[in-house]
Amino acid sequence: MGYEIDSGLYEQAELSLVPEFALNISRGCGNPTGFANLQPGDVVVDFGCGGGIDVILAVHKVGPQGRVIGIDGTPQMIERAKQAVTEAGLQDRNIEFCNAYLDETRFLDGFADVVTSNCVINLCPDKDAVYKEAFRILKPGGRIAISDIVFIDNINHELRERFQSTWAGCLGGAIAEEDYWQTVKKAGFAEIQIVARHTLNPEELEAMACCPGKEFTPPPSKEDRVAVEGKVTSVKFTAIKPLLK
Ligand SMILES: C[S@@+](CC[C@H](N)C(=O)[O-])C[C@H]1O[C@@H](n2cnc3c(N)ncnc32)[C@H](O)[C@@H]1O
Repeated sequence: MGYEIDSGLYEQAELSLVPEFALNISRGCGNPTGFANLQPGDVVVDFGCGGGIDVILAVHKVGPQGRVIGIDGTPQMIERAKQAVTEAGLQDRNIEFCNAYLDETRFLDGFADVVTSNCVINLCPDKDAVYKEAFRILKPGGRIAISDIVFIDNINHELRERFQSTWAGCLGGAIAEEDYWQTVKKAGFAEIQIVARHTLNPEELEAMACCPGKEFTPPPSKEDRVAVEGKVTSVKFTAIKPLLK
C-alpha cells in the first residue's frame, strides 16, 4: 500500500473513487490533485502517473470538458493505469496515457494548464531537464502541483553514494532541499508555495528507501537509515509559470 494512504493524505471519499489494485500499487508521498486547485475544463498532465491514482482523481475534478494525460516511462505502469481507468468506469472520459521520459515528453509548447507529479522527480537523474519540460508544456499562468522527497540537509558523499546504488528507492535520487528550489526557480517558475511538509519517520524512511518494494530494492543498512533519520522530508508545493509580459 502507498505510504500516503497510511498517513491519511488522501481523503476517504477520494480513495473510494480508485480501484483497490490501483491503491495497492500507488507509491506517492502526497496528494497533488488535492492542492492543485483543478478547475472544470483544465488540461492536466501527471508526470510519472504510475498505476493512475492521481489521473483518476484529476479527471473527477476537471469534469467532462477537461482532459488528463498520464505520462510514465514504464510501459507496464501505463498498462496498469489504463486498467485502473477502465475499472473506475472512466473509459469514456478524456484520459490519455503516454509512455515517455519526463525530460522529453514531445508535447506541444504551452498546452497544459497544470502539471502534477507525485513522488517521481526525485527518481529522475536530470531534475533541471524535467522542470524545464514542465515549464515548456505549461501555458503562461499555468501551474505545477508537486509532491516530492528531499533531504533537509546535505548528507555526506559516501552515504549519498550508498543510497544512489539503489536508485529506484526514492532516496537514491533525492537532493538537498535548497538545491531542489534552485532547480524549480531556474526552470522559470515563480511564486513557490509550500502547502505541507512531513519529515519521514523510521518506518516511512525504510519503505521509501525500498520503493517500489523490498523484492525489488533491498533495504539500506540500519546504520545508513539511522544516519538520515529526521533529514528526509516530503514536500508538497505549487508554483506558477508567469504570464508573458
Ligand atoms: C514512486 S512511483 C509513483 C507513481 C505515482 N505517481 C503514484 O503516486 O503512485 C514513480 C513512477 O515514476 C515513473 N518514473 C520514474 N522516473 C521516470 C522518468 N524519468 N520518466 C518517466 N517516468 C518515470 C516510474 O515508472 C513510476 O511509475
